[in-house]
Amino acid sequence: LAPHLSRPPMPEIVVLPHPEICPDGVAFEGEEGKSLLDNLLDHGVEVEHACEKSCACTTCHVILREGGGSLAPSTEDEDDLLDRAWGLTPQSRLSCQAIVAGERLVVEVPRYTINYAKERK
Ligand code: FES
Repeated sequence: LAPHLSRPPMPEIVVLPHPEICPDGVAFEGEEGKSLLDNLLDHGVEVEHACEKSCACTTCHVILREGGGSLAPSTEDEDDLLDRAWGLTPQSRLSCQAIVAGERLVVEVPRYTINYAKERK
């Protein structure tokens, strides 16, 4: 096989419409092994990331409507933070901690985020 044919298929990432971040929704080929947040940012989906991806805020919260089961489970630290996220669901993840695996993902960016850093000012 030619090298480009032997590569595993890239997992598709579908982002549902969000009024500010991506009004029409978007779909792109995700990069496996990279965080979901970085995948989104690389494709112009400007999800907030107030703590700079260090698992210390909840602004990068997303909901995985499909495919979430393919990702490595969240850590206790991630779960503790998620408990404080606006609009928490059983499919919620902090996108900076969720590493994209081989499966298609359908991502919903919650309508609101709670930015503790900003609110403290
Ligand atoms: Fe702060 Fe992900 S960017 S927890």
